[in-house]
Amino acid sequence: MSQHPDINTNIDAVIDAIIGDSSPTNEQAPLDTNSVIGNDTIDTAATSDDSKHIRIVNTFMKRRTHMNKNAELALTAPEFAHYLVNNSFGDGNLEGINDLRALFAHLPNGSEAPLTLEIGFGLGDSFIEMAAAEPSRNFVGIEVHEPGIGKCAYMAGTQNLSNVKIINGDAIQLLKQLPENHIDRIQLYFPDPWQKKRHHKRRFVSPERMAIVTRSLKQGGWFHTATDWEHYAFWMVEVLDGFAGLTNQAGAGKFTDRPDFRPMTKFERRGLASGHGVWDLIYLKD
Ligand SMILES: C[S@@+](CC[C@H](N)C(=O)[O-])C[C@H]1O[C@@H](n2cnc3c(N)ncnc32)[C@H](O)[C@@H]1O
Repeated sequence: MSQHPDINTNIDAVIDAIIGDSSPTNEQAPLDTNSVIGNDTIDTAATSDDSKHIRIVNTFMKRRTHMNKNAELALTAPEFAHYLVNNSFGDGNLEGINDLRALFAHLPNGSEAPLTLEIGFGLGDSFIEMAAAEPSRNFVGIEVHEPGIGKCAYMAGTQNLSNVKIINGDAIQLLKQLPENHIDRIQLYFPDPWQKKRHHKRRFVSPERMAIVTRSLKQGGWFHTATDWEHYAFWMVEVLDGFAGLTNQAGAGKFTDRPDFRPMTKFERRGLASGHGVWDLIYLKD
């Protein structure tokens, strides 16, 4: 995906062009979780004429990449439409999506089955593999990258899965619209590492964003994340261990091995091929 370490430099250049940030690079900066702000946070910076320049800080960069024929088919053909929750609302519009369980009310599992939300599934391979492996659990995936959304819907359709729904949009915005204690598992695999210090505020794992994630988790539910970027791994464990209401299943300060139920993701394979390590973390909501 676009923020893979190999190509992050290009993304950084694009971001700099958009937000006009010319501060120096510091890829191995010490952790500074106080500087992290949420997706909805408006970052204001004084300009030379003393007016305020307003920036919304997102965890993603939307990008145009090639859409293959199957993905395009799944985004347009009626037989795939039932997988695409906000297909008819247009590009990333989450209006009216305030109950994920209700999406399964008329499907075989019903609305009370255990519910997993995967944030940023990329092309969806591992998300679909997990959904196929656990047919009695409902799976909702959210992503902003349309070729990935199309590919994921195509795979769900060709396997005729009845426990999958796909949403186009920003997970933070979605989570804020959902009820409290709504989801059994939230998974965030290989989130964009945002390597440079000036981009750390875009990292998904931050105290502000974790407050939004935890609110919608059920008591006893879990948050599972993994990264191949070492600095982000230690950042994550510091943020999450310090978050009241979550308990690290491996013990404070410790990572867990990749559990059998988590298939290797596309992004993870690329990281491993580049010589990166992999760090998993699972937290229970108290
Ligand atoms: C580095 S890729 C990893 C993809 C996949 N999980 C994997 O491991 O192969 C991160 C993905 O998260 C998505 N993403 C980032 N922030 C998001 C957000 N707030 N809501 C939905 N998707 C998001 C990006 O579009 C990108 O596709």
